[in-house]
Amino acid sequence: MSHFCRELSLLLLLLAHAQADNCLTAIVGETVQIPCSLNTEESLKTEDISVEWKTSEDLIVHSFVKGQDYWTNQAPQFKGRTQLFSSELSRGNLSLRLSSVSLTDDGGYTCNYHRSGEPTSRQLSQMCLQIAGRYSLPVVQGPASPVFKDHEVNFTCKSTGGFPEPKVQWSVNKELLQNSRRVNTILNRDSRGLYSVTSVLTVNVTGDVSVTCTVENDRLREKMTSAEIHYLIKAEKESNGVSGGTKVVVVLVAVLVVLVGLLIVVIMVLKRRKRKHQRPRTPVTNKDEESEAPLQQTQTRTTLNS
Ligand SMILES: *[C@@H]1O[C@H](CO)[C@@H](O)[C@H](O)[C@H]1NC(C)=O
Ligand SMILES: *[C@@H]1O[C@H](CO)[C@@H](O)[C@H](O)[C@H]1NC(C)=O
Ligand SMILES: *[C@@H]1O[C@H](CO)[C@@H](O)[C@H](O)[C@H]1NC(C)=O
Repeated sequence: MSHFCRELSLLLLLLAHAQADNCLTAIVGETVQIPCSLNTEESLKTEDISVEWKTSEDLIVHSFVKGQDYWTNQAPQFKGRTQLFSSELSRGNLSLRLSSVSLTDDGGYTCNYHRSGEPTSRQLSQMCLQIAGRYSLPVVQGPASPVFKDHEVNFTCKSTGGFPEPKVQWSVNKELLQNSRRVNTILNRDSRGLYSVTSVLTVNVTGDVSVTCTVENDRLREKMTSAEIHYLIKAEKESNGVSGGTKVVVVLVAVLVVLVGLLIVVIMVLKRRKRKHQRPRTPVTNKDEESEAPLQQTQTRTTLNS
């Protein structure tokens, strides 16, 4: 019973992937079953069965002759990747299992059956295989340095390993961006023919911003959306590169300069006063000393004026 359920779900999976034009969608690197069955209630002897799976270009994908796999004429690109379901053969199930699917497997496949004693062989099924690659979950990166208000910033979205070409869409603050000229999307192909996509979104930030990037694979009807990234915007005032810490240092230096200046002035005044005391070289009376203060006052005034 559970076996039946598993088969049913597998069948449903196959049906879900099957397209109107009899094409199966297979995913690069994964395994696909190409169905082929003989409509019979009768139990067959496997030694009476011969099956030949071929591509539409007549390359031999898999041969099975009178109960035995026959490898000699298999096309090299299918080597080690094909298999019939031996326990299913007697029930007329001649489906092919193809593993490690690659882009070059795209195309038509036929299943040809011959029963010992019958004059001709019959083509039982003709299928087409369409290959897709699954894009990795896109990752968005924002600017490494803080974002300032009213500045242009770039967000970069990356996803790899997909096929065919993706649709890339950006959302800014949860709103889908439509046909934007602010998006620059570049595609590259790797050695397996799969696409990697890099999309750069340029925005003028006017406030805190959140961004997501979606990579869509039409063939798989699959949309992959990045995690949302949030950017907090710094106020414009701080954008001249002077941080709070620097400001404190600047103030401290200024205070220090003023203090040193004052010190120099005080020292000069004291020296000048000392010189005044020494210049007379004559015995100094109390009276002289008393009259000195106004005298110095006038002198400082004249030096200031000159
Ligand atoms: C043929 O066998 C495979 C493998 O067990 C199974 O998945 C598939 O559903 C079978 N097909 C039919 C028509 O029974
Ligand atoms: C943003 O990316 C574009 C190319 O898409 C580039 O010309 C520009 O210099 C980048 N701007 C910043 C701020 O990195
Ligand atoms: C950002 O704003 C500047 C000045 O307003 C404008 O020239 C530039 O095209 C804008 N960039 C984007 C990506 O909107």
